[in-house]
Amino acid sequence: MESEFALTPARPQPRAEIAALSNVAHGAFDFGELERMGLRLDEIIDFSVNSNPFGPSPRLSEVLRSIVPDRYPDRECLALRRALAAQRQCSIDCVLVGNGAAELIWLVALAWLNPQRCALIIGPTFGEYARAAQMMGAAVRVWQAGPQRDFQIDMAEIEHLLAQDRPQVVFWCNPNNPTGVFIPDQVLYDLAGRHPATLFVIDQAYRRFVFDQPESLMAADALPPNALILRSMTKDYALAGLRLGYAIGRGEIIQALAAVQPPWSVNTAAQAAGLAALQDEAHLSRALERLALARRELMRDLLQAGLAARPSSTHFFLVEVGDAARFRRVLLQAGAQVRDCASFGLPAWARIATRRPEENKRLVEAVWRLWQT
Ligand SMILES: Cc1ncc(COP(=O)(O)O)c(C=O)c1O
Repeated sequence: MESEFALTPARPQPRAEIAALSNVAHGAFDFGELERMGLRLDEIIDFSVNSNPFGPSPRLSEVLRSIVPDRYPDRECLALRRALAAQRQCSIDCVLVGNGAAELIWLVALAWLNPQRCALIIGPTFGEYARAAQMMGAAVRVWQAGPQRDFQIDMAEIEHLLAQDRPQVVFWCNPNNPTGVFIPDQVLYDLAGRHPATLFVIDQAYRRFVFDQPESLMAADALPPNALILRSMTKDYALAGLRLGYAIGRGEIIQALAAVQPPWSVNTAAQAAGLAALQDEAHLSRALERLALARRELMRDLLQAGLAARPSSTHFFLVEVGDAARFRRVLLQAGAQVRDCASFGLPAWARIATRRPEENKRLVEAVWRLWQT
């Protein structure tokens, strides 16, 4: 008797969902592109990533020197989870550490989504939510904010969609990348409370950068049972080359994510760097103060150079530039990389992240020069 698996085609093929996946554009350097353009990495200032531009804690270099590279990392990230649990006033069963917040997004999709389920995405936003959901064959609904209302989110419409579609998962980036729109934490937690059948994945990758609404580091136990908070230590502690993120939620949710996480995905250097970062919160606080000031100055100087930043609650913001691909290319040649927002469905917009004051000046000068060409 022929096996039920015998119908496979003559050549090995990936699943149909995988063939249909499209690439997601990201900020940060495209090493191949720089090579093709004959540009050197150290000649370019990167305004296309939204990380803390003041760099990691000075303690990091010493910590990295003590790493033992030939020993496997702690699979459970115990020390770091303990430190995070102490900070968030919860049990370590409510914390999962990931290889960047990006890994955690993929774990959510793996554990929660399949072709019979639906994910709701509040757009325009980070592309990995849709890609991870599509990878699992889930239906993807997107509610899209637009420039006519400064990308504000219509909460009544979202409430309606949640009730109508009853998605298994909603991905909500707060504050949102790329728009900088921020919904007060409690408003989202209340919304989650009214829709208990949906897992609310609240991606707070940039929460520390909402300058005028410092967070309370609310106790995890106070979260609604269907809420999962994602954090990117990559961003606030400036660890992009190491990759580090964590999730906070009820034990059952964390367990499901841990069940699908590849072993040892968080390397030893990242775990040690995360611990060192948590022990030097003063470094981050100083950086955030300087960044808030730098952002105000950059917005003012860009306005004088003819670029009006859209309102944003955080250090990155959108500017309308006409042809964003050209704008990016010309600035890149002048030594400043910004994010072309075409992949967010916004081909006339660029996203700019505030950097150190002296770097911001170089961007503003490049914009002045651009208008003269
Ligand atoms: C909204 C959002 N979430 C998650 C990530 C990924 O974070 P990490 O670098 O920690 O994987 C990014 C990175 O750009 C992001 O913009």
